Amino acid sequence: MGMGNSMPIFYYSTVMKTRFLSFMLLLCLLAPVKSQTYQPTAENLKARQEFRDNKFGIFLHWGLYCMLATGEWTMTNNNLNYKEYAKLSGGFYPAKFDAAKWVSAIKASGAKYICFTTRHHEGFSMFHTRYSDYNIVDATPFKRDIVKELADECHKQGIRIHFYYSHIDWFREDAPWGRTGRGTGRPNPKGDWGSYYKFMNNQLTELLTNYGEIGAIWFDGWWDQDQNPGFDWQLPEQYALIHRLQPACLVGNNHHQVPFEGEDIQIFERDLPGENRAGLSGQDISSLPLETCETMNGMWGYKITDQNYKSTKTLIHYLVKAAGKDANLLMNIGPQPDGELPAVAVERLAEVGKWMQTYGETIYGTRGGCVAPHPWGVTTQKGNKLYVHILDLQDKVLFLPLEGKQVKQAVRFADKTPVKFQKCQGGITLSLGKVPADMDEVIELELKD
Ligand code: GLC
Repeated sequence: MGMGNSMPIFYYSTVMKTRFLSFMLLLCLLAPVKSQTYQPTAENLKARQEFRDNKFGIFLHWGLYCMLATGEWTMTNNNLNYKEYAKLSGGFYPAKFDAAKWVSAIKASGAKYICFTTRHHEGFSMFHTRYSDYNIVDATPFKRDIVKELADECHKQGIRIHFYYSHIDWFREDAPWGRTGRGTGRPNPKGDWGSYYKFMNNQLTELLTNYGEIGAIWFDGWWDQDQNPGFDWQLPEQYALIHRLQPACLVGNNHHQVPFEGEDIQIFERDLPGENRAGLSGQDISSLPLETCETMNGMWGYKITDQNYKSTKTLIHYLVKAAGKDANLLMNIGPQPDGELPAVAVERLAEVGKWMQTYGETIYGTRGGCVAPHPWGVTTQKGNKLYVHILDLQDKVLFLPLEGKQVKQAVRFADKTPVKFQKCQGGITLSLGKVPADMDEVIELELKD
């Protein structure tokens, strides 16, 4: 006892104190970094699952560009002067616009959400904003807030509304130039980022305050500064603003990269995840919910000379293949200047809807199945049900690599008639009786747990 023993104890506690203090100091240093890490709320996580379950949405690209009928990039592609272009607004009167008609036609397709261009790269706001007169109410004789009418109707008919919002603006003088929109006659290439950033955040606040529950904000245009790597879009604060206003609102960005901090979904453009035919994808696939967008003809905005609509079969195959890759499909339509959806598009919506009435169960609420996509088709899965979507098979027999899984029964999904199957090395073979003639022959397998 006494001095001899108290020295080490004293020494020990000093060391501990010092260690404790340095640990606390480290925590303090780390704290600001930590607080910036995005933690999705419970309602956001729930919204992600619902988004995943919904599988199918319709994209609508509508703005002043529809009047020129050459697609939504026409302003920059033809170097149209921004002041001249803006005069289009004085003649924009889509007399036949009827939100109820649009939403009903879209709902009939089985789509569970609509993503609408509130403001595309041309810079025109399709909603009533306080922060610019260049908007549908103040600058057109139409004077109706299209976004409001559409959002209200979506809420009424029970389908989600998502907002596309462009980071690019070829009209505003404060929007810094990127690699596009350089020939629209704006005076100052540098713009005024502070002013433009504030404008965007003000508009986003309006969009997330005045239009009810918004399923997602779908950003586009980040890539405009890809030749200017030092450019800071200040996305974390913008994303935080969105989540503060509506925590369940999903943030997605069509930047063609793996998701950034603060994003809730991963977007692909014109390609299924993992593919890169269009040259805009090929990025790694994250664990976030996935969505790919594609056009029904060849253009996003209305293009009068493009009547090259994909067949119903092609559209359904795309939807099924997306589901097989665990991704949603966002299929685009470019409404006409008179306010109507093109008749062919409405026809396609109805035909896809008819198919979805029978086969929706094999799409909604599923995840990519345990058999990976093959040239013959894909699989989707819900619990112990595996849906085998045979899209292209010139054979009566199909081998499924179901190693280690036991199949209880196999039936044709449409009429529940039994399908013969046999165990073989590495899986099973299905005997289909004949070469499948349907555009999607769906076989439902019940797996043993
Ligand atoms: C591209 C285009 C744009 C379109 C979008 C849809 O990023 O710039 O016009 O809205 O793709 O995915």
